[in-house]
Amino acid sequence: MESGTKLDRGFTLWFTGLSGAGKTTVSEIVEKELRKRIGTVEVLDGDIVRTNLSKGLGFSRADRDTNILRIGFVAKLLTRNGVPVIVSAISPYKEARDMVRQDIVEDFIEVYVYCPLEVCAERDVKGLYKKAFEGEIQGFTGVSDPYEPPAAPELTLRTDEEEPEESASKVIAKLEELGYLEPAEELDRAS
Ligand SMILES: Nc1ncnc2c1ncn2[C@@H]1O[C@H](COP(=O)(O)OP(=O)(O)O)[C@@H](O)[C@H]1O
Ligand SMILES: [Mg+2]
Repeated sequence: MESGTKLDRGFTLWFTGLSGAGKTTVSEIVEKELRKRIGTVEVLDGDIVRTNLSKGLGFSRADRDTNILRIGFVAKLLTRNGVPVIVSAISPYKEARDMVRQDIVEDFIEVYVYCPLEVCAERDVKGLYKKAFEGEIQGFTGVSDPYEPPAAPELTLRTDEEEPEESASKVIAKLEELGYLEPAEELDRAS
């Protein structure tokens, strides 16, 4: 076990997946747990980033790539200063995600938040799928725009088959396995 070797290092947990897959939901639970365990954590959520850092960008491939590279740049700055970072962004293009991975190198942890399109569309958290299927929104990821799944993510979550707490526990367990977190007492995660 490598456990304990990276306790003071920053890392970037990069959640990628379709809209409604559960990136924000899982990341909020993970954020809470990290705050409890290490105190510091920074979150870059795509929806929020698009209202400031990436304000004005649209959903063309070029704009999506720019958005991801900006988020990746900030994540890198924080990570190299020892800050745990959580990114939740659809990040549909493999090339852009891989560029960020190359930048952050070993401290980049890609989490594929997998949920079948039909289930995401059924959840329709923001009512966007309905609009996308009716053609009211164009270039919507998974409907009329591509989503390229990660080839070798550090972790895959099946949010159609597990509860959000279960998905979040898997993320925490992965961080423990990689040595970024001290393994906690089972009790801490049970309730
Ligand atoms: N295991 C799970 N993980 C995350 N979300 C889940 C899970 N199971 C069901 N859900 C539900 O799916 C929806 C995901 O929405 P959200 O987190 O906003 O997605 P995203 O940020 O990927 O667009 C929420 O309504 C959430 O309650
Ligand atoms: Mg979200």
